[in-house]
Amino acid sequence: MKSFILQNETARLAVLQRIELASPLLLKIRKLFGRYIFSNIITRFFLNPKLIGQEYYKIMLEEFLTIKRFINANDKFFLGIGSGIGGLELLINRNFKDKNYYFIERNYVSKKVKYGWGGMVNKEAYNNLELQKNFLKINNMNESQINIYDYDKNDLPEIKFDIIISLYSLDYHYDFDLYTRYLKKISNTNTKIIFDTIRSDYFQKIFKNVEIVKSDLMTVHKSKRIVCSQFLDLN
Ligand SMILES: C[S@@+](CC[C@H](N)C(=O)[O-])C[C@H]1O[C@@H](n2cnc3c(N)ncnc32)[C@H](O)[C@@H]1O
Repeated sequence: MKSFILQNETARLAVLQRIELASPLLLKIRKLFGRYIFSNIITRFFLNPKLIGQEYYKIMLEEFLTIKRFINANDKFFLGIGSGIGGLELLINRNFKDKNYYFIERNYVSKKVKYGWGGMVNKEAYNNLELQKNFLKINNMNESQINIYDYDKNDLPEIKFDIIISLYSLDYHYDFDLYTRYLKKISNTNTKIIFDTIRSDYFQKIFKNVEIVKSDLMTVHKSKRIVCSQFLDLN
């Protein structure tokens, strides 16, 4: 079975980033003991990294298939905003050769992970940038392809990107506007920006092109995945 290589601490991050990776038993425990104990104790000691590696691979492959047709062989610069440990980028790397990957993430795990809409107040985070880099390397991304930036250090990459991807992060947990000015700076007319949102109609006013590629109507958030290009107002 296809899988990512996942070490214990990284498996914990994957589960916090993708709660569907937690087994039904773990979810029951979370309900019984609460989010603090779940995030800080249970996920540290009761995970099976091998199984999580397989399941995480499966989920990321499904995600990859929703966006694959938007990636062109000539695209060179990829930016992930809130990519978590980066399984999706690993699959892009396995399918397209010699790309450069940039990541904007955060370097801490919230004490009491809550999965909700924070709006402009954006404090929730579940990552560790050293573990992320190690995970990418042991799963065959070359060190020279990896560029990781800490969102909280205010020193973000300023190049033009071809593809910008933010699954279940930008405009899902926190307001798109936190990144608007920055995104205008790092995109050109060909840049595709892919993210999940519950207000896809709103983005018709922000971008010239908006295409819905996936609808998660069975979940609490009822989000849609959209692929956007060309800001209508560049100021
Ligand atoms: C629900 S997880 C999704 C992870 C990954 N995209 C996936 O689909 O598996 C949301 C991620 O956003 C990150 N995050 C939170 N605030 C952020 C910010 N302002 N900029 C970049 N990433 C952020 C969190 O650390 C977390 O890894």
